[in-house]
Amino acid sequence: MPTHHHDVIVVGGGAIGLAAAVAAARRGLGVLVLEQFALLHERGSSSGAERQWRLQYSQEDLARLTVAALPMWAELEEAAGRRLVHRTGSLWFGDTTTATNEGQVTAAVDVLDRVGLPYEWLSARQIEDRYRFAGLPSSYEGFIQPDGGMVDVRATLWVLHEQARALGVEFRDHTRVHELEPDDDGVTVHTGHDRHRAGHVVVTAGAFTGPLLEPLGVRFDVELYEMTTTYFRALDPGFDYPTWFAFQPPTEDDTNLFYGFGRLPWAAGDLVRVSPDFEVGEFHDAYEAGYTANPVHLSRTAEYVAAHLPSLDPTPVRPGSCLIALPKDPDRQFYFGRPPGAERVVVHGAGWAFKYVPLLGRACVDLVVDGRTEHDLSRFAF
Ligand code: BEZ
Repeated sequence: MPTHHHDVIVVGGGAIGLAAAVAAARRGLGVLVLEQFALLHERGSSSGAERQWRLQYSQEDLARLTVAALPMWAELEEAAGRRLVHRTGSLWFGDTTTATNEGQVTAAVDVLDRVGLPYEWLSARQIEDRYRFAGLPSSYEGFIQPDGGMVDVRATLWVLHEQARALGVEFRDHTRVHELEPDDDGVTVHTGHDRHRAGHVVVTAGAFTGPLLEPLGVRFDVELYEMTTTYFRALDPGFDYPTWFAFQPPTEDDTNLFYGFGRLPWAAGDLVRVSPDFEVGEFHDAYEAGYTANPVHLSRTAEYVAAHLPSLDPTPVRPGSCLIALPKDPDRQFYFGRPPGAERVVVHGAGWAFKYVPLLGRACVDLVVDGRTEHDLSRFAF
């Protein structure tokens, strides 16, 4: 079996894998990206059209990390010749004491104060009047942060892919990695047909990461979910929503969290996404994902829209799902680093990390080349 040599192999061609490939090629390294499905597929964590962009976090280091990512997004926008981060505002509201995987309203406001970022505090009535919500419990409160908004996922993937190609990165799609075999000089990467050898491997395989790390004795302690996504038709051409997240106490059956967007600024049309953030139906093998909406979660979302969003037609359009790996420890957000005993392997995995795409791609390569990153990501280590 022939062995192909590269400086760096990136396992997983999603957004962070592509960003890492670009960063490595920029540092003069020969890079191969191995992608198990078609390039730019919709079966992983980089699927879909939009992601929320927000500066507020319950943890100060994450808020600061998002601010640090901004100039890198600006650079990417320059290369793309178009906007990727659209500042349509980010509205967080609800039961301010409910703690979730996404954070908590009052803790996030404390962090906004500490970091010196602007926001406006709002009562339930103000949220209803200004942002056309209805039927909110009068105890609900929240804030609008004007710099939040949404990220154009597909344009981000396209520009990173273009940059990688232009820098000479090689790609092999439909090539699944079965085993990583690190030694003192590098890593042997076993695929179905081939054996590749690299000085370093960057694993950015999202929900598919666990089985690659287990044989190395590395615990990737995540929960896998397929979360329902769907769109609703906006009824009033003169009104648009900011991105929003509703914090509510859990029900007996689900986490009772919903979030939404306004119209996509980069696309014509009246469809806006509203989806449930239900950590329900954990499964253990990412290859078993069915990529279909959960009918109960879909009707819960339609009920939420009918009750609280009178400017939307409550009939779901284009239901689907997205595959997500969330760290079991909700404070952690994601895994990043060189697993102990496998120092030639750098991993980013799990969490809601699209905001950090250019930053984490670069940080993976900084670890490979310099052995350190300029950001302190040590609490996300293995
Ligand atoms: C986030 O901004 O992290 C987020 C937004 C919507 C759903 C889940 C996470």
